[in-house]
Amino acid sequence: MINIAVLGYGTVGSGVVEVIRTNHETINKRAGEEIKIKYVLDLRDFPGDPVEEVLVHDFEQIVNDPEVDIVVEVMGGTGAAYNFAKRALEAGKSVCTSNKALVAKYGPELMEIAKEKEINFLFEASCGGGIPIIRAVNSSLTADVIDEVTGILNGTTNYMLDKMNTEGADFNTVLKEAQEKGYAEADPTADVEGQDACRKIAILSSLAYGRFLDFEKVYTEGITKITPEDMEYAREMGRNIKLLGTSKRVGEDSFYALVAPFLVGKNNPLHSVNGVFNSIFVHGNMLGDAMFYGSGAGKLPTASAVVADVVEASRHLHDTIPVNWSNKEMTLMDPDSVEGRFFVRVKDTSLDEVDKAFGKVDAVIEPDALPEEFGFITGLMTQGEYKERVKALGDNVLGMIRVKD
Ligand code: HSE
Repeated sequence: MINIAVLGYGTVGSGVVEVIRTNHETINKRAGEEIKIKYVLDLRDFPGDPVEEVLVHDFEQIVNDPEVDIVVEVMGGTGAAYNFAKRALEAGKSVCTSNKALVAKYGPELMEIAKEKEINFLFEASCGGGIPIIRAVNSSLTADVIDEVTGILNGTTNYMLDKMNTEGADFNTVLKEAQEKGYAEADPTADVEGQDACRKIAILSSLAYGRFLDFEKVYTEGITKITPEDMEYAREMGRNIKLLGTSKRVGEDSFYALVAPFLVGKNNPLHSVNGVFNSIFVHGNMLGDAMFYGSGAGKLPTASAVVADVVEASRHLHDTIPVNWSNKEMTLMDPDSVEGRFFVRVKDTSLDEVDKAFGKVDAVIEPDALPEEFGFITGLMTQGEYKERVKALGDNVLGMIRVKD
C-alpha cells in the first residue's frame, strides 16, 4: 500500500480526492499498489464531508509519519507550500504538485533534494492543466533539439477572451464567471496580468532547452489592456486575440521568451483553441511540429494530472526519474532585438503619416463600427525598431498588439 497526504482541500485538493475515489481500481492497477489517502491537511473544517475522517490541521503529523510515501502539494503560493514541500522531500517523501509558482521559483532546489534522496519532485499539473505536456517534453521528445515552445497556457484568460469576443461579454463579469468555474488563481491578477502564463513558459522552456529560465526575467504583458475595440478589429481581420507564452532558441546558447496578447491568424492552429482549453505547440529539429491540446484549468483536469504524478511516483518510489533541467541559467535576448509584426490602432492621422513612419504597411483595417480611427499591420521589424518608428505618430497611437501568423 502507498500512503499519500494531500496538502490543501481547495479546488484542486478536493479534485484529487475525487479522482482517487472515483477511479481507485484503475489507478491502483496502474500504480501497482493500492493508493490510500492517509491525510488531508487544511486549516479549515469540513463538517459532513467524508474527508473529515482523514482531515488534519498540523503538517508535523504528516512529515513525521514514516508511513507517508507521497505528499501532494495543492495549496498554492510559495510560503507554506515551499516549506512543506521541502520538508517532505528532506523526510524522504516524494512530492507531486500543481503549483507553478513553487516550481518556477524553487524547482531546481526541490529537484536537487529529490535527487539526493532518490525520490521524485513531480509537477505535471503545473502547466496546461490536464494536458500531459511536462512528461511529453521531458520523457518523450528526447530525440530532438527543441527550438520553440509556444502556447495558450492560461485557461482563465483564454475563456475570458473567447467570451469577450463571441458574446461581447464585459471583462469583470467574465472574470467572475471564470472564478466561479474554478479556473482562476486565488488572486486572479496572476491570470489576467500574465504572471501565471509566465511561470508556465519558464517551466516548459527550462525543460525543453535544459537551461533554467528565471521567470522574473521574462517580459510579460497580460490582457487587462485589451478593449472591445481591439476585439472589433480582430473580428474584421478574421484573427483571434490570444494570450501566448512563447520561447525560442535563436542560437547555440541564445534564447528569447515573452508573454503577451497576440492577434493570431486563421491558419495558425492556436487560432481556434477556445474556452478554457490550452494548447502548446512544440517545434523540434527532427520532429518538426507537434501540438498538445486539452483542458487547461479546472478541478478535475488539474487533479487528473496530479494523480497521474502520484501513479508515476508510486512506480518510482526509490529512484529519481531523470529531469532535463540544469541549474545553468538561460541567456535571454533583449526583447527589443526580437523580430515581429505589430498591429497598431491610430486616430487623427493619415495613411501618409503612417507610411512615412513605417514604410508601406501590410494591411489597413477600417471597421465600420469605429469611424474615428483605423488600424494597420507593420512589416517585419525588431521591437526596438518598432518603438523608434512609432514615436513619429505620438499621441495618435491608441494601442498595439503583436501579430502571430
Ligand atoms: N489559473 C490557471 C489557469 C489554473 O487559468 O490556467 C491552471 O493552472
